[in-house]
Amino acid sequence: MCGIIGYTGKDQALQIVMRGLAALEYRGYDSCGLSAFSSDGDEITVIKKAGRLKVLSEALSTVQLNTRCAIGHTRWATHGAVTEENAHPHRVGKTVIVHNGIIENYKQIESELQCSFQGSTDTERACALIDRYYEQTHDGKQAIINACSQIEGSYAFLIMFEDEKDTIYATSRACPLIVGHGENGSCAISDISACRLDTYCRLNDGESARLTPDGISVYASDGHELKGRLLPTDVKTELPSKNGYPHFMLKEINEIPTVLRKTVDANTKDGLPFFKSIPDSVLKDMKRLTVIGCGTAYHAGLCAVHTARELSGIDGAAYIASEYRYSRPTVKKGDVVVFISQSGETADTLACIRMCRSLGAYTLGIINVPYSTASFECDGVIYTHAGFEIAVASTKAYVCQLAALYLLIFKASLLQNALSEKKVSEYTKILKNDVPENAYIDEEKRKTVYNIAKKHKDSENMFYIGRGIDSILCSEASLKLKEVSYIHSEAYPAGELKHGAISLITPDVSVFVIATDKKLIGKTENNMQEVSSRGGRLILLGDSEMKSCDIIPCNSLQGIFSPFAASPLFQLYAYYTALLRGCDPDMPRNLAKSVTVE
Ligand code: G6P
Repeated sequence: MCGIIGYTGKDQALQIVMRGLAALEYRGYDSCGLSAFSSDGDEITVIKKAGRLKVLSEALSTVQLNTRCAIGHTRWATHGAVTEENAHPHRVGKTVIVHNGIIENYKQIESELQCSFQGSTDTERACALIDRYYEQTHDGKQAIINACSQIEGSYAFLIMFEDEKDTIYATSRACPLIVGHGENGSCAISDISACRLDTYCRLNDGESARLTPDGISVYASDGHELKGRLLPTDVKTELPSKNGYPHFMLKEINEIPTVLRKTVDANTKDGLPFFKSIPDSVLKDMKRLTVIGCGTAYHAGLCAVHTARELSGIDGAAYIASEYRYSRPTVKKGDVVVFISQSGETADTLACIRMCRSLGAYTLGIINVPYSTASFECDGVIYTHAGFEIAVASTKAYVCQLAALYLLIFKASLLQNALSEKKVSEYTKILKNDVPENAYIDEEKRKTVYNIAKKHKDSENMFYIGRGIDSILCSEASLKLKEVSYIHSEAYPAGELKHGAISLITPDVSVFVIATDKKLIGKTENNMQEVSSRGGRLILLGDSEMKSCDIIPCNSLQGIFSPFAASPLFQLYAYYTALLRGCDPDMPRNLAKSVTVE
């Protein structure tokens, strides 16, 4: 969840590290810090703060720090409160460290070391352990190998030793860490987009690297050097920019039509779905649609399972990765399992990929970030082309995941003779043309959404209800609202409300109804009447004759395609509600974009 970066080279390290931290801040933003060798290389300065990066920038502006070698960290707290002592880097003796991950046996390490600590993080204990070995060996590489053999849990570490001038060590287990050449020096980063690299190497579990201004050596877990590991990269690092928008979330919602077109174009050929890296035989033999993911990605999976069943009778199920990984696996050799992940780095999803692979399944990733761990670990990948998604709450990536999943369903249905080529070509055309057009929010709709959000912004409890595919959308719409506005909200199938939750309906409660499905609108209206009779305040996304509700019109796309018109609207509703309640929609409290710990 944390972001880490290190640089040693000819350029100003502070600038590169601060720029990188800005690009990594989406991974965690409770606190941040950096450490740097002085220009003569004699000492290491550590500066850290509780709070966001701008607090660190302010602190840096008051000190003279001329350095060519620095490591930095942006934190999402796991162990230890959000305080300056618990912020990284940590220093014990001659060792300075930044860490992404969780050290599970930190208490045991603490009791074995018998020394005092400044803060309460697991990382500081790991730092002390490395330092203890460094005192004994006076060899950074060996100290790290010895300590890591004792450490349980997950980590990406960047480490400096005061005696090893302008040198950074990097090592990882079950956490992403990339080393590479770029920016006139050697870099180590959690995410390839945070630095301009010409060559790169993803460290595998247990591997480590030594970075100096002159180059990088990569080592296996036993310490022997691995040659030829650095490969050329063509990743374009554009630093995320709001392009005049007040927030990334709004910018990303507005980009939906464009990125939908890109995703469909990249995964179609001659008007039909086409996936470069997935053999037809895989989809022809896919008997069930099994989908695994977390958060919004899981919700995209739910929608796909519904659509596959409705459209071509392919049965299936969507699973939450953190549950699936500890349940009795039913996956067998030859099964196809689809993993959805924007980042490609979510720890629970990665664990499920590894588990399903070990059981002999074909692992198919629907991933947004190229060069991510999942993109390397899956047998086949369909890329969504949402571009950088910076706002923590996923918007454009979600609709692109839906588009990719729909193309997958169309293709599997065609290969299994569940749909004719004519039908698949017709559906693909809708996805390519009508869907992006109808995902666009015009000024009139924008104003409607804003005014309704304003009217309901003070409801501290909300329900989202719907039927059929709308019920599935409710889960995502409700998640969006609670993520960014901190309103307590729950999603319910509309017909289920009266089996319990209706007891909570009072005039203080707003109920957001999604009703795009014309077939079911009559039934949903009955449920709306039930809410209305108890004083609940209704918002309707859809089309209805009912007068006693605030309506966000949404009748442009029908059936399986309705999510593409409805999603940008409920996302915008959540955005405006957050704004009107004074919340930061891009960096909501306690959340992080990329959940790289369990
Ligand atoms: C976090 C993010 C969500 C995201 C989920 C899964 O909770 O805040 O926006 O949906 O992780 O992330 P992934 O990168 O695997 O899609």
